[in-house]
Amino acid sequence: MSQEKAPQDTCVLVTGGAGFIGSHTVVELLEGGYEVVVVDNLCNSSEKALDRVDQIVGEEASQRLTFIRADVCDKDALDAIFEEFPIDRVIHFAGLKAVGESVSKPLEYYSNNLGSTFALLETMRAHGCKSIIFSSSATVYGDPDELPLTEASPKKNATNPYGWTKWMIEQILMDVAKADPEWDVVLLRYFNPIGAHESGLIGEDPKGIPNNLLPYVAQVAVGKREAVHVFGDDYDTPDGTGVRDYIHVVDLARGHVAALAWMNGRTGCEVFNLGTGNGTSVLQIIKAFGEACGHEVPYVIDPRRPGDVTANYADCTKARELMGWEAQFDIADMCRDSWNWQSHNPDGYGA
Ligand code: NAD
Ligand code: WQD
Repeated sequence: MSQEKAPQDTCVLVTGGAGFIGSHTVVELLEGGYEVVVVDNLCNSSEKALDRVDQIVGEEASQRLTFIRADVCDKDALDAIFEEFPIDRVIHFAGLKAVGESVSKPLEYYSNNLGSTFALLETMRAHGCKSIIFSSSATVYGDPDELPLTEASPKKNATNPYGWTKWMIEQILMDVAKADPEWDVVLLRYFNPIGAHESGLIGEDPKGIPNNLLPYVAQVAVGKREAVHVFGDDYDTPDGTGVRDYIHVVDLARGHVAALAWMNGRTGCEVFNLGTGNGTSVLQIIKAFGEACGHEVPYVIDPRRPGDVTANYADCTKARELMGWEAQFDIADMCRDSWNWQSHNPDGYGA
């Protein structure tokens, strides 16, 4: 149940906290004075990310961080965590996120993403903790009729199992909050998170060939891959390439801290877009990255990728007006920090 508490009296369970967005959020939480327990099975991340978090926040704050390696689908493990720690709120990042893989492994995606959420919600309820922030995605808007997207824009059918898991978990959480007024639920719809912490110590470390644009561009820039494959230059956009709302991962992380402060003592269910409100094309990204790394990034034009939308970007008025949150970083900042991370850690955490 939601109780008003100061950050230093609040213990936040962060599922998937060793991952890309999770690790950046843990930094912001520790710097904001919170007590943090991370649960992650490391299926798509490295414990080294949390060692680096310790380094960033320093000795005093790092004592407020506990890491538990466990699967969020494992109810017994969750139960033990809630027995041991006085968890007040949960931020639920844990999940599988590769769109293409979700098409070939739908059962794994539904099972992991829905199963972990059910196990988590049931354990939370059993322990009287009814406060959760969920990592949703702009993917729930599908192919938009109108831009920018507001939280009132319609949810569309997903085009892949990953997208359906986000769609379904949103619905489940809305129903849970409706059925029991003690819950407070915040659904954060992320647009396209990129960049890295300015220290260059933590960042995105995809396994294998990156699916997303920015890690691919960064690996070309550092010489690990030959050229960026631009998926289509015949879209109805100013330069023909797809347009997205890229947001610095540190801005996104701060959005979670703003949401925690906002939901403090409230109940109900609220949805927020987290983006910048600006659309940037693939070619603009490649050019900006070239400026950040000091040399042009080679690219080739390939056919469109099935399932891609032409353009999307957010209207973030609601997050600004209600939570007082607004993105601070621009594309140049995002590319600079992404390059700083990539060039200092060409093999990610594996180095
Ligand atoms: P990530 O893969 O880096 O982080 C997810 C973390 O969850 C990983 O550390 C992984 O090991 C862990 N995990 C997965 N299943 C688990 C399980 N059953 N038990 C314990 N740990 C488990 O991904 P990310 O980019 O940091 O994304 C975090 C969340 O945000 C995900 O839910 C993702 O779907 C969502 N999201 C991401 C993006 C994006 O573009 N990165 C956009 C919108 C939404
Ligand atoms: C961005 C743009 C591509 C790679 C995905 C998920 C979404 C969310 C964020 C989790 C598009 C183009 C890409 C490449 C390219 N994730 N591109 N060459 O597709 O907007 O969103 O990640 O929730 O659900 O669908 O992001 O980075 O893959 O693509 O030309 O090698 O870059 O066509 O226009 P996307 P992305």
